[in-house]
Order: sequence, then C-alpha cells, then structure tokens
Amino acid sequence: MVDLVGQYKKIKPEVDEAVLQVMETAAFINGPAVKQFQENLQNYLGVKHVIPCANGTDALQVALMALDLQPGDEVITTSFTFIATAEVIALLRLTPVLVDVDPDTYNITPEAIEKAITPKTKAIIPVHLFGQCADMHPILQLAEKYNLYVIEDTAQAIGADYTCVESNKTMKAGTIGDIGCTSFFPSKNLGAYGDGGAIFTNNDELAEKMRVVVNHGMAVRYYHDYIGVNSRLDSMQAAVLNIKLKHLDEYTTARQKAAAYYNDAFAGHPKIKHPVTAPFTTHVFHQYTLVLNNVDREGLMKHLADKGIASAIYYPVPLHMQKAYLDPRYREGDFPVTEMLSKSVLSLPIHTELTEEIQKVITEAVLEYV
Ligand SMILES: Cc1ncc(COP(=O)(O)O)c(C=O)c1O
Repeated sequence: MVDLVGQYKKIKPEVDEAVLQVMETAAFINGPAVKQFQENLQNYLGVKHVIPCANGTDALQVALMALDLQPGDEVITTSFTFIATAEVIALLRLTPVLVDVDPDTYNITPEAIEKAITPKTKAIIPVHLFGQCADMHPILQLAEKYNLYVIEDTAQAIGADYTCVESNKTMKAGTIGDIGCTSFFPSKNLGAYGDGGAIFTNNDELAEKMRVVVNHGMAVRYYHDYIGVNSRLDSMQAAVLNIKLKHLDEYTTARQKAAAYYNDAFAGHPKIKHPVTAPFTTHVFHQYTLVLNNVDREGLMKHLADKGIASAIYYPVPLHMQKAYLDPRYREGDFPVTEMLSKSVLSLPIHTELTEEIQKVITEAVLEYV
C-alpha cells in the first residue's frame, strides 16, 4: 500500500546524517532533535504548542487524561475509525458513545453528534478519516452550546487545511479544536521510522499539563504532580521527522495527484464510488478508498493480488461490532452507513512514489474485474 523504501532512497543522505548525529551525541531521549522537531511542527501547523509523544494512541490518551474526566463521563466519537480512538476512552473508564458517519466523507456528522449528547457528555473526538477534515465549524458550535471539549484525531490528516465557512479562516487539521492528536506511524503521511506521535494545542494550561503527563507526571525531576505515562518521542525518530516535515507538502501534492488520476479513471462508473472531498477541507489522501456497489470485494482483492497489486479494507468491522467493544447499548443495524461502508470499502495503494504507469496497471486491473 506504500513504498517507504522508495521514499527513503530519495532522502537517504539527509536522513542518514541526521540519525548518525543523534548516535554521535547519544542524546537519545528528549535530545535537541526532539526540541527542534517540536518547534518545526509548531511553525508548520501555526499552533502554539506541540507535545511530542511515543505514538498516536498515547496522544489521544494523554489528551483525555488532561481533561480531568470522571469514570462514566461520555465521549462521543465515530463508529467508523481505527480502534485506537475508542480504545483510549474505554481504557480510562470513560464511556465511548458512538455515532454514524456521512456516506460521502465517512466522517462524523454534527447532526448525529447532537442527538447523542446527554448530561454526561464531556468531549467529542472527531476523526479526520482518510485525510480530510470533519465538519468542524458546527461541531465547535455544539461544543460551545453544551460546554464540551473537542479533541481532533488527526492521525490520518496531518497537513490538511480546514477553512471555516463563517470566518473564512484556514487552519491546519488538528489545530481547530481544544486539542489535536496525531500519529507518526511509518505509513502515515508524516511517518517516522518507528512509532511516534504528537499532541497540539493553543491552550497554555492544557499544554503545560500534557507536557508533564507524557513524562510520568513529573515537572521537576522525581516530583510527580499528576499520574502520568512514559510516552516520549525518541530522538532518532525526531531526527527523521525533521527531514520528512520539510517534504510534507510535496508528499501531500504527490498523493493528491495520484488521487486525481484514480478519480478520473473511475469517474462515472456505476459500481465504483470514488472519494468525495467536502468543500471546507483539503484532502491529503492518507487512504484512497472506494465504495463498491454490487462487486464481489474478496474476488476483486484476489484478482488484484494475483497481479501483485495490494489493496486493503479500512475497516472491515465497525467499532460497535468488535468483540472487545460489544455493548448492550448497541446492536447490528444501529449505524447503517458505517455498516454499509465496512462491507463495501476498498482502499488502493496511495503513496508518494506512485507513477502514472503503476496507476494505469492498477486502475485497468480494477476495471477489468468490476
Ligand atoms: C484514526 C487513527 N487514530 C489513532 C491512531 C493511532 O496511532 P498509533 O498507531 O501511532 O498509535 C491511528 C493510527 O494507527 C489512526 O489511524
């Protein structure tokens, strides 16, 4: 689905030098590369605070830990996302409240959120799924009306631009709500060479607390003000990310160009719906995901695999149908859009190294089978 080796080869001299420098200085934890990356990412995003951490799941967990929520408090999120989003809610003994998604963008909708709000609701976690922003303006309005926190899960949308319909102000994904959380998992749009994550906020108080929580709740060495976690971005990953951040916009453009090629190839096909980008956001195509109509999905995947073409299902099982998350509040049929999507989505390879020649082979193979 991605070509990380091809991408590495193009930046090898820079990356090798940066990683070797970390080894020469042995500043493996919270070294200068981490500080530098924090500043570089703050500038790129136009956000006051970036708190690097060990992975995107921890970023979400630390964000929730900073909000002083109580067991049983409800957190609304989407039923169509990677498990990490709901996992951290459950882990902290908070109650995940799931809502269905929009059939075009696969993102959470403000209408569904409002219906799910109760006196116990304390936060909303919109996920900017596959690379485009959720409809944030009405979500922020709901948050204000009901006094809720908004934590953006932007693990898949780093670099996407959101434009507020009211103010016409453009902001980077993850800097719109109270807190934004991202992942630097290697295959992400800004991927490290191992695990990594970061938290963003413009709120000084929350930033200070989260910076302490990621380091065992310790502001002064061996004095623990909060129950914390050990979640630090290691310096080698920061060194790699410093190089790759410089290329992020060019990586995004390459993904958008590849998506446009696919869109053209599948346009108007009665059995293939290509991704739809909402007017208030750009799409950075972390995934290029089709919705198939009346196509044997397993058969298509096998047809592609026989030709050496990767494809993947994100995600085959909605959250409310996952064994660990079965809950008497939810039954099959409760989230019809999510359930339809989990049965009919198929993601094709999308990455920075795709060429039109490769895409021609992929699209022809898809169309031949369908
Ligand atoms: C939507 C979403 N949220 C959270 C995560 C968790 O990130 P990580 O794998 O870095 O823990 C991921 C990525 O895997 C993701 O796609």
